[in-house]
Amino acid sequence: MAFTYFFRDKTTLDFIGEEIVPTLKAKRFINIWDAGCAMGPEPYSIAMMFREHMGAFVFRNVKIFATDIDNTNKFGEIIYKGLYPHDQVKRIDGGILQKYFSADDDKQNFKISDEIKHSVRFQKHDLLCLQPVRQGFSLIVCKNVLLHFTPEERIKVMRMFYEALDDNGFLALEQTQKMPDCFADCFESISSKNQIFRKRNGS
Ligand SMILES: C[S@@+](CC[C@H](N)C(=O)[O-])C[C@H]1O[C@@H](n2cnc3c(N)ncnc32)[C@H](O)[C@@H]1O
Repeated sequence: MAFTYFFRDKTTLDFIGEEIVPTLKAKRFINIWDAGCAMGPEPYSIAMMFREHMGAFVFRNVKIFATDIDNTNKFGEIIYKGLYPHDQVKRIDGGILQKYFSADDDKQNFKISDEIKHSVRFQKHDLLCLQPVRQGFSLIVCKNVLLHFTPEERIKVMRMFYEALDDNGFLALEQTQKMPDCFADCFESISSKNQIFRKRNGS
């Protein structure tokens, strides 16, 4: 099973919530691509963070396209059910857990709320096919996936992300993933502490 957990890389999520969400609130459609989402903690963390920073009304405009190569053929089912054992939710802040999950009677399993669940759509997708799942993303999150690719594959995948982003769209990578120099004209760094970039238009 792919390694992941809820609110992994909290500093990046906080930066997105505090600095990026306010710039997107006025948009009619806010499409987000979580590429290499594993079995759901990451796209659901992104959804909860957007919901926290924009309120219920605007959150209805958020759609998260969660994709993974999913070699186990199980991620779609797990994400669709939105049911996670106690072990996987125990690190979540108490207030967030109470607000967005309901526990079964013996508190062994926790179900994510329909509001959050309905904002995430899972699709099996291989990033190396180099075809985006759609165009017009406001934000692409791709964490702990590119490290599995060769440097040449990484550049091709990042080029695909660039093409799939809206003008001024954002790209978030894991802390240890540096932007290759050849993308200097394509992306500008917008955070000194996180690997978060804004698309430069017209490159
Ligand atoms: C370590 S997990 C990262 C999960 C999540 N992004 C996180 O950071 O917590 C890596 C994920 O990348 C997915 N993956 C690996 N190669 C892929 C590919 N070619 N296309 C799409 N997903 C891929 C794996 O299936 C796995 O779920």
